[in-house]
Amino acid sequence: MEVAQSVRAANVSGISLLQHHILLKNANGLDRGDLKPPAPTLTAQEGSKEERGVSALDFPASTFLSFCSAGQMVHVCVTGGSGFLASWLIKLLLERGYHVRATVRDPDDFTKTAHLFSLAHGRERLELFKADLLDEGCFDTIVENCEGVFHTASPVNMVTINPEEELIKPAVKGTLNVLRACAMSKSVRRVLLTSSMAAVVSSITNNQETPTVYESTWSDQSHWRAKRFWYGLSKLLAEEAALCFAKEKGIDLVTIVPGMIAGRCLQPNLDTASKLVMEILTGKRSFLQNVAHAWVDVRDVAEAHILAFETPLASGRYLCAREVMDSPTLLEILLKHYQLPKPVLQSFVDKPLPSAPVFKVSIRKLESLGINLKPIEDAIMESIECLIERGLL
Ligand SMILES: NC(=O)c1ccc[n+]([C@@H]2O[C@H](COP(=O)([O-])OP(=O)(O)OC[C@H]3O[C@@H](n4cnc5c(N)ncnc54)[C@H](OP(=O)(O)O)[C@@H]3O)[C@@H](O)[C@H]2O)c1
Repeated sequence: MEVAQSVRAANVSGISLLQHHILLKNANGLDRGDLKPPAPTLTAQEGSKEERGVSALDFPASTFLSFCSAGQMVHVCVTGGSGFLASWLIKLLLERGYHVRATVRDPDDFTKTAHLFSLAHGRERLELFKADLLDEGCFDTIVENCEGVFHTASPVNMVTINPEEELIKPAVKGTLNVLRACAMSKSVRRVLLTSSMAAVVSSITNNQETPTVYESTWSDQSHWRAKRFWYGLSKLLAEEAALCFAKEKGIDLVTIVPGMIAGRCLQPNLDTASKLVMEILTGKRSFLQNVAHAWVDVRDVAEAHILAFETPLASGRYLCAREVMDSPTLLEILLKHYQLPKPVLQSFVDKPLPSAPVFKVSIRKLESLGINLKPIEDAIMESIECLIERGLL
């Protein structure tokens, strides 16, 4: 990062330049273990000092960057602005006083973007730009004058005909396209990349004691290839490529690694978790496999991105999941909160499923940012309420 930029960021945050240089050195994380994916095995040992977030706790919360209170309008960019997570991120950023430059593939498609302008302050402080992940160089001018870039855009398709073209290229090349623009920019201080728990967890067997995954845990490419889980592979490859590129170019990159994200949709189309809930409750899904997923509330994922931007010491990866649930646990929650007739759901519950290997997610590093994750039942209830309001249940 250039000196002029360091000085400006230090002035904005009200911290000394020396402190800021130390923070930048840490934040760039060039010597950190999580840049180089270790062997894809899970460990039940305690996380490292860095994974426990001790270093972040060493820095008092009062020194968090408080851009808006410093009287400055800070511009940030959010890619994939029409998406489920990005819509929440934009909502929270606008509420916190940021000016948001959001990218979408088609700004004229009001069916995908109208909800953004009805957010509080959307009309005053939100701009939309056209950008496709595979359009080389298209982010270059968009990130100009932005201090933070939140890169959430990535195809989220579980079913594909040509995984290389539909998932892997946009995820990996698209991420590098965004990062290249950030590397050239004189304003970008930090890039926040949305990764996925699919870049952390791949093979867990029933034989082992419940393992814990940490920021140093990486999933296994060959496992996802063998399982033909192309979405998981695209997220793993994109995060790996991003970390290597950021290291090479000296970009301050922080990755947020959420589990399955649940909650109310702000955008008109349904997110992955709401689709799953709807399919179970309507009987569209006739077969349910028992799989354990780490779940998290969409509001918490958006908040985690913002805190990781605003916290000078934030660096590396942050696992972001409140609870690991297998399918019977999800069904129990649905039975408890869905008040309408549920013969289909009951039929799932009556058929005992074979047990699924579960795991624990270490969130000590995330908590060191000052976040308190909400119970996942709340997010699932919100998702059900939203489906009912839209007449889908
Ligand atoms: N939902 C989850 O449970 C979950 C869990 C872990 C991680 N994540 C990650 O979180 C991020 C957001 O996911 P989401 O659930 O909010 O999904 P989403 O609603 O489908 O949002 C994804 C966004 O990416 C955009 N996009 C896809 N391909 C693109 C391309 N070639 N060029 C430009 N934009 C493109 C989409 O634009 P269009 O609207 O034009 O298609 C959409 O706005 C993704 O990186 C995803 O991998 C999601």
